[in-house]
This record gives sequence, structure tokens and C-alpha cells, in this order.
Amino acid sequence: MTKKNILLLAGDGIGPEIMLEAKKIIDWFNKNKKLDIDYSEELVGGASYDENETPLTDQVLYKAMDSDAVLLGAVGGPKWDTVDFAKKPERALLRLRKEMRLFANLRPAICFEELVSASSLKPEVISGLDILIVRELTGGIYFGEPRGIEPIENGERRGVNTHVYTSKEIRRVAKVAFDLALKRNKKVTSADKSNVMEAGLLWKEEVQSLYDEHAMYKSISLNHMLADNCAMQLVRNPKQFDVIVTDNLFGDMLSDEAAMLTGSLGMLPSASLSEKDKHGRTRSMYEPCHGSAPDIAGKGIANPIAMILSFAMALKYSLNFDQEAELLELAIKLVLKDGLRTADIMEKGKQKVSTTQMGDAIIAKLDTKK
Ligand code: IPM
Ligand code: MG
Repeated sequence: MTKKNILLLAGDGIGPEIMLEAKKIIDWFNKNKKLDIDYSEELVGGASYDENETPLTDQVLYKAMDSDAVLLGAVGGPKWDTVDFAKKPERALLRLRKEMRLFANLRPAICFEELVSASSLKPEVISGLDILIVRELTGGIYFGEPRGIEPIENGERRGVNTHVYTSKEIRRVAKVAFDLALKRNKKVTSADKSNVMEAGLLWKEEVQSLYDEHAMYKSISLNHMLADNCAMQLVRNPKQFDVIVTDNLFGDMLSDEAAMLTGSLGMLPSASLSEKDKHGRTRSMYEPCHGSAPDIAGKGIANPIAMILSFAMALKYSLNFDQEAELLELAIKLVLKDGLRTADIMEKGKQKVSTTQMGDAIIAKLDTKK
């Protein structure tokens, strides 16, 4: 079996706690399924800032570029609130995304049947929910120039960010959405603000023309939705969606909203992928959609499932271990069926478990399926 190298960047807050559980899962697969996944660990975010005065060293960035996949926990926290903007923990994440050219961010919001009543929405609204948000990740207002804060007259200041997209940036992420929709329910909703922003109008036009130009997408139904309406439709009738493709900022917000349809932000994994380089290699990073949750960090109560599901996505998309990914997803499902719950998804009559106990229970289920 070919050796795979993955880089683990646990980061801040609950990052190290949930990463510990992911490591146990990797060890399990290496031992029981004879996978040869070699992992190393480095600092990122605030943890790196404390040690190196930068949230991401060049050395760690190069290591990330060289890995078959990067697994990231979370970055940020109040401890670094007063740090220079350019050195904030979040800059590490954004630099990794940009330099590794991870333009396609896949955020699947799947409601496990066992968690239907853990959501704040009515069970019938979310039961059977399976949507995929494809978020553009290296463009838009997150990276547009000019940007900054500058002094103006009368002692006032002006803050500037630029929302900008090129045709190429829009088309390549739309292509990812269409290609994935072909393997799913063949429905793509593109969310934009074409009624207000020129960049939004370009978004809509490019998505439409890519669709029109490719006969192979004919079996897909494409619709365009204003992003604010999309936010509303997500809580009104989320099952109308299959694949949602949208820009960096709307994708950030719509995916947090979609996460709550699954019961908890602690359940949503993500994959960020680059284009193939000239050697046919794709760079990738996998991370839970939730943040570092400083309020619960160090308490051992965080939900490790989004992190573990992110590793399952790595197995599928980067390491070519589809069966193993499915086995891992099944183990999670069975643990939930047994009634085990971390605090964020706890309900009356269920058994409350810690981060470690959740990880151990998933491993125990894997053991029954060896
Ligand atoms: C996310 C996060 C990040 C983002 C933050 C931590 C920079 O919210 O991955 O959704 O805004 O992209
Ligand atoms: Mg976010």
C-alpha cells in the first residue's frame, strides 16, 4: 500500500481536543485496515503565534503544500484579540487556503436521522436532509484589493474591502458544483446578490453560461436565488436544495445556517480542494466548519464528530479510501443510534458523553465492523 502523508494542524481552543480523537481514528485504520497513513503535527493560529510570533510559518506552509492532505482543527480565540490584524490566528487559515489555492470548499449538511429532534427546526422540515454547499474559498471580499483601514479628515477613519470576482474564478467553482450535482440529485442553486452588486451579476451570468455551454449538464436543473432569499429558504424549506454554489462570504454565512439544520455546528465537516497541478496532484485541507469555541475549550466536552467526519472526507477525496470513509460514517451513525451525545446535541433520555468518550465509542463501533 502506498504511504500517505498527512499534516495535522490542531490549532487553538477545542482544536487540540478534537484532533486527539481524529488521531485515534487514524491509528485505528492504520492498525486494523493496514492503511499506511503517516502523520505529523505542527502549530497553527494562535498556538503558532505564541511560539513564533506568526500564525503560520513558511516552513509549516511548505509542509502543508507537500502533504497528501491537511487536517485542521480550529484557529482563534479572545487571547489574540489585541494582536496585529496581519498576525491574527485567522490569517493562518486564509493564507493556507490562498497559497494552496483551495478554491472549492465543500460543506455537506446532512441530518442524521438520530439527530432530527436535536435541531431547533421541526423534525419534518429537516428529516432526510442532505445538501451540499459549494463555497468559493480563495476570492471575493475575503481577499479583494484594495483593503485596509485608513485615516480620513476630522480624525475619522475609513475601512475598505473589495468584493471582486473574475469569470475564471466563478466558472471553476461552478464546474465543481455541477460535477458533484451529477452524482447527486442533479439540482444546483446558485446564490448571489446580482440585484445589488456587479460582481454578483457577473456571478449569475457566468454560472448560467457555463451551464448553457455544456450539454452534459442538461440533466441538472439550475436556478439562481438571491442570497438573502436563500438564507430564508434554508430555514423555511431546506429540502428544496441539493447543491448550493455561492461566493466566499455568502458561503461562510449560509453554511453556518445550514449546520444548524443538522442539529449542531459540531456535526459539519468540510473539504477544501485545489485544481489539479501539472503533475495531476490536488492539494487539499479538511476541517470542521465550527470555530475554536473558546468558551468550552479545555473542558473535554466538545463534539469531535465534525473533525472525524472531516477525516472521512479526506479518506474519500484525497486518499482514495472510499470504503474506509463509509465505514467511519457508519460507525458514527451507530454511536448516535446508541444514544450517545456530546453536550451540543444532548437531548432528554440520551447519554451525555465527553469528547474522549465519543471518540472511544466510535472506535468501539469500528471494532465491531473489522
Ligand atoms: C469558516 C470560518 C472562517 C471563515 C474564519 C475562521 C476565518 O468562519 O471556515 O467558515 O470565515 O472562512
Ligand atoms: Mg464560518
